[in-house]
Amino acid sequence: MRTQDPKTIYLREYQQPAFWVEHISLTVSLFDGYTEVSSELTLKKNSTVASRELVLNGIDQDIQSLQLDEKQLSSADYHYAEGVLTLNCDSDEAIFRAVTRIDPQNNTSLEGLYQSGSMYCTQCEAEGFRKITFYPDRPDVMATFTTRIEADASKFPVLLSNGNPIDSGTLEGGRHFAVWEDPFPKPSYLFALVAGDLSSKDDRFTTRSGRDVTLRIFVEPQNAHKVDFALDSLKKAMQWDEAVYGREYDLDLFMIVASDFFNMGAMENKGLNIFNSAAVLASPDTSNDQRFERIEGIVAHEYFHNWSGNRVTCRDWFQLSLKEGFTVFRDTEFSSDMHDRAVKRIETVAGLRAVQFPEDNGPMAHPVRPDSYIEINNFYTATVYEKGAEVVRMIHTLVGPDDFRRGSDLYFERFDGQAVTTDDFVACMEQVSGLDLTQFKRWYTQAGTPRLSVTDDYDADSQTYRLSFHQSCPATPGQTDKLPFVIPVKLGLLGADGNDLPIHTSANYNAGTEVLTLADETTEVVFTGVSERPVPSLLRDFSAPVKLSFGYSDEQLAFLAANDANGFNRWDALQQLYLRAILSMATEHRAGRSMTPPSVLVETVANVAGDASLSHAIRASMLTLPGYAILKDAVDVVYIDDLIAARKHLVKTLATRYRDIWRSLTEKLSSEAPYEFNAEESGRRQLQGLSLWYWLKAGDQAAFDFAAQLYASATNQTDRSNALRAVLAGDAEALQQSLLSDFYEHWQSDTQMVEQWLTMQAGTPGMTVTGIETLMQHPAFDIKNPNKVRSVIVGFAMNTESFHDARGEGYALLAKVVQQLNALNPQLAARLVTLLSDWKRYDADRGKMMASALETILATESLSSNVFEMAQRALKD
Ligand code: TRP
Ligand code: ZN
Repeated sequence: MRTQDPKTIYLREYQQPAFWVEHISLTVSLFDGYTEVSSELTLKKNSTVASRELVLNGIDQDIQSLQLDEKQLSSADYHYAEGVLTLNCDSDEAIFRAVTRIDPQNNTSLEGLYQSGSMYCTQCEAEGFRKITFYPDRPDVMATFTTRIEADASKFPVLLSNGNPIDSGTLEGGRHFAVWEDPFPKPSYLFALVAGDLSSKDDRFTTRSGRDVTLRIFVEPQNAHKVDFALDSLKKAMQWDEAVYGREYDLDLFMIVASDFFNMGAMENKGLNIFNSAAVLASPDTSNDQRFERIEGIVAHEYFHNWSGNRVTCRDWFQLSLKEGFTVFRDTEFSSDMHDRAVKRIETVAGLRAVQFPEDNGPMAHPVRPDSYIEINNFYTATVYEKGAEVVRMIHTLVGPDDFRRGSDLYFERFDGQAVTTDDFVACMEQVSGLDLTQFKRWYTQAGTPRLSVTDDYDADSQTYRLSFHQSCPATPGQTDKLPFVIPVKLGLLGADGNDLPIHTSANYNAGTEVLTLADETTEVVFTGVSERPVPSLLRDFSAPVKLSFGYSDEQLAFLAANDANGFNRWDALQQLYLRAILSMATEHRAGRSMTPPSVLVETVANVAGDASLSHAIRASMLTLPGYAILKDAVDVVYIDDLIAARKHLVKTLATRYRDIWRSLTEKLSSEAPYEFNAEESGRRQLQGLSLWYWLKAGDQAAFDFAAQLYASATNQTDRSNALRAVLAGDAEALQQSLLSDFYEHWQSDTQMVEQWLTMQAGTPGMTVTGIETLMQHPAFDIKNPNKVRSVIVGFAMNTESFHDARGEGYALLAKVVQQLNALNPQLAARLVTLLSDWKRYDADRGKMMASALETILATESLSSNVFEMAQRALKD
């Protein structure tokens, strides 16, 4: 809990500890009512540091005994305040022993050791190990672990920790024990322990050097039928990491455990990944295509951390993106290889623009490598993860795939078993490529999304074409002046026939990759031998995370959408057209004038819908309008009612104008084939779902009938949720209610389905604050369960029309929930605060109400440092 002034940690103050831990021997004894933890640390003086102060973190520890070597410590021998225990240690090698008691059964923070349903599990990243025992809980302290677990044998037949099982047996009183040994030195944040009555399923994987690895998933028995997909994903990920990075798994056992109570997606604990159930349990009947895709990606992500994160870890938490940015880049590449690269890129960029760009454009903006924090849990952000991955992607683009692989080989070899920095990573890439990445590293240190504005000029006489690039970056909290970034711009020049013209230029342009590299505030690029005035296709594949502007006409954008050789840019051109149309319609609406979408856009939509040369998935993404997050990020002042009116009007126009197209697509895309999750099939279902949604928006009775029929006959959750999504977006209230209650009736015993049910309800048009309060009283809701809270509360906040109700009741409800969660789960509470952080971008009335909800939060008694930091940053100028 917060003291008067929560302490800010600064990167520039990093210092190595005075003592390393070589080995820790841990015994965790679970009893009903308390848990006793005995630990023995083998300490070794760090000879590079003069101080002899042993600094150990420990929170909520009921001390039974502390001992340094043979000396029993009394409170006069140490100082213990605010979760830090310090004592002097005169010898260079020493053993520190602690016996403490903790209370996992009442640990609702879901950090450290806690109870999740009937099992016990741990979450130690970032600083949860200090809730288990006294320890230098910082990632640069890497030790080998031996863990003994003791518990009631009938209630907790399964006892797990990191590494290899080396011993087990029975104890008196119906208890038993297991001992695990992890031979790889690791930081405490990678520690894990699980105890429960779990069923498991095994699979095997043989590494290319012949190691026979057992893969084992543990779940609560009712979920035993939902593990196959994760096991398959895991094998694909293991195979891919060998093929693409030459990295093999390093233990004989790899375990995954599913937990219903979990603050985030999943955790890469060495040899014992712990997953949010929602991020691992899958079956065709309960998981839609999107969910399958997400699970495959997360399973891969956590597995990939074994090298990018575990074997080579972070020196301090400012380096978080070292492991997260790199690992997100790796899992994204994996998914691209498994499915459709262009589709994956579109999804990634849509997500980046909807979440990371707004973060970078508001009070929460921070660099990929932050300079300071109060609570590190608040920095597991889209910037550190997704922008961090874009930064790694740009390095990949600049050095090329071969040098990138050589650079990552060097990185793993040079730093295996060490805790390092993003500079160390970049240095490896510099060494193998010979490139100087000094300026490039501003991507790690400067926050904010760079703006890249481009103008052109064509001279027919000399057949030269000029592009002038100007970059800038808006001020962000604590950073007013920005220096130019290195920006790789992949581009092409389209001739009137829609084909790329040959490119000749003396600029810093790589013909093989089509990438032009900008490094200055302004750059003039001259192309020679250009036989006609081209239409430039800029930033292909979104080669840099910037906001690009070029004065395209609507016709030029439509031309690019129809012809660009780069699939990503076809999508992006159409997105720009939608965005423009909606914004200008919103302006009309604000002025009380009538709204008309430009006909070139309306025609392009018909062309795309009927373009059989495009895959179903690409068509679906091209026909999907930008969401409110992207619309809001594109205006100076958010007049949300006008944005809503404009977006709705565009949807309605497209729906009614093309009702026959939507109908025929919907009908044509039906299939009787048994469910299969692959790019083809999920593309088909995605386009059918979208067509049905449009068709229903046209208000045809036949569309409602089709949806009701699709729902009733669905043999998989994708079809079912497509039908539901369409019906819930329409205004047939009776049908909505009957499908929703049927859904609950049928699926109430399936946790993942209940979560989806809650999310759907929270997102229904016309949902009210009273409706949400009622939902929170439903037996399926549990304020202590983050998935349930996210389903209802984040689901409601994403329901733009309802959440931004003009009376501000949505904001007040959110403040109330944050206050309640502040005491139970500060990490989750702090995340919810971000839902209000863009208050300044709204019109004055809404902005005031949102700010006052933040003030309410800030005035909470016993405010956690987590929530304090977020609310205070949000309110700060
Ligand atoms: N390291 C995890 C990942 O990215 C995420 C993580 C960080 C996490 N802190 C957590 C997960 C707390 C659960 C709870 O894969
Ligand atoms: Zn991660």
